[in-house]
Amino acid sequence: MLWITEFSCFFSAALAMILLSPSLQSFSPAAAIRSSHLDAYFRPLPSDHSLRNFSFRESPIFRNADGCRFSGGDSGVCNPSLVHVAITLDVEYLRGSIAAVNSIIQHSVCPESVFFHFLVSDTNLETLIRSTFPKLNLKIYYFAPETVQPLISSSVRQALEQPLNYARNYLADLLEPCVDRVIYLDSDLAVIDDIAKLWKTVLGPRTIGAPEYCHANFTRYFTGAFWSDKRYNGTFEGRNPCYFNTGVMVIDLRKWRRFGYTKTIEKWMEIQKMERIYELGSLPPYLLVFAGHVAPISHRWNQHGLGGDNVRGSCRDLHAGPVSLLHWSGSGKPWLRLDSKLPCPLDTLWQPYDLYKHSH
Ligand SMILES: *[C@@H]1O[C@H](CO)[C@@H](O)[C@H](O)[C@H]1NC(C)=O
Ligand SMILES: *[C@@H]1O[C@H](CO)[C@@H](O)[C@H](O)[C@H]1NC(C)=O
Ligand SMILES: *[C@@H]1O[C@H](CO)[C@@H](O)[C@H](O)[C@H]1NC(C)=O
Repeated sequence: MLWITEFSCFFSAALAMILLSPSLQSFSPAAAIRSSHLDAYFRPLPSDHSLRNFSFRESPIFRNADGCRFSGGDSGVCNPSLVHVAITLDVEYLRGSIAAVNSIIQHSVCPESVFFHFLVSDTNLETLIRSTFPKLNLKIYYFAPETVQPLISSSVRQALEQPLNYARNYLADLLEPCVDRVIYLDSDLAVIDDIAKLWKTVLGPRTIGAPEYCHANFTRYFTGAFWSDKRYNGTFEGRNPCYFNTGVMVIDLRKWRRFGYTKTIEKWMEIQKMERIYELGSLPPYLLVFAGHVAPISHRWNQHGLGGDNVRGSCRDLHAGPVSLLHWSGSGKPWLRLDSKLPCPLDTLWQPYDLYKHSH
């Protein structure tokens, strides 16, 4: 795989090469699923990453392309032609969030039609995001960690988890009632296609859409306590539950509000606190509520697992098929590996969107 290190800024060409090369498509979905379990866990920041030292370049100018039919208008966030995207901003993943936003506007035919909903637990980040993207349609929402802290079960790993990981559960409450649909995106990804295509996903009767992985053995996502308790073990009866990654979801907020899914998720989290029905953090409640009831989206919209497991040299390849979104789920992150001068080959596909200004 030495030749792969040669791609630098010609990432589109490189991507095409990858897609044409069967030898690079060997990464099994099961491996990706394993690795993506890790993405929620907190790791301490390098000490030089205090907010004061964060500095980002201003994003390049973006404008609607000629083929764009979005005409703007003055109804603000309630304009029905907008594409709504929700992303969390926190100090640890800030560089990733900013690159994700940058990637979306760079590849959008109508970047002025994209409205960003940023979820923060630290309001100091507002100034930073506004100065990095002066022209961006955006709104900042404060997510109080106390909303979810009492619900996070006290097992060692989960206690270290960031409350902001759970902010996606509250989008239906946080966002304006006029916002009926939202794309939720994790902070460790790059969109390399027009986000409007993902926005137009047909959800049919479903509340959420996501790429599904139906070959995963579902048993292992829950503990023996879950499978042997007759109050719980019939949860998936009559469904064909498939794993999905909650880092890329299209959500019908109207249905979510109508069916009160936030409360249902909270109820499972309360059960988890007492009975330990699963080992992981924010994902299993989504599986409990939605698995088997998810509108399937093409896998091109979540080429996940690229973070790998952070063991040196454990770089991951893409799955077979076309790519619209690259997702560095897993514990390795492209910005950390690029800084350490030991990047994985695919990390160079993230690099063009990085707006971080190194101080030296
Ligand atoms: C962070 O910023 C402060 C004040 O601007 C500076 O004194 C300190 O050396 C910086 N730390 C690093 C690691 O760059
Ligand atoms: C799924 O996993 C469970 C527990 O790990 C195991 O007992 C079961 O045989 C597996 N099923 C399949 C179809 O592999
Ligand atoms: C659910 O749990 C009950 C009680 O332990 C058990 O009898 C039953 O077989 C379980 N059902 C399934 C589908 O595992």
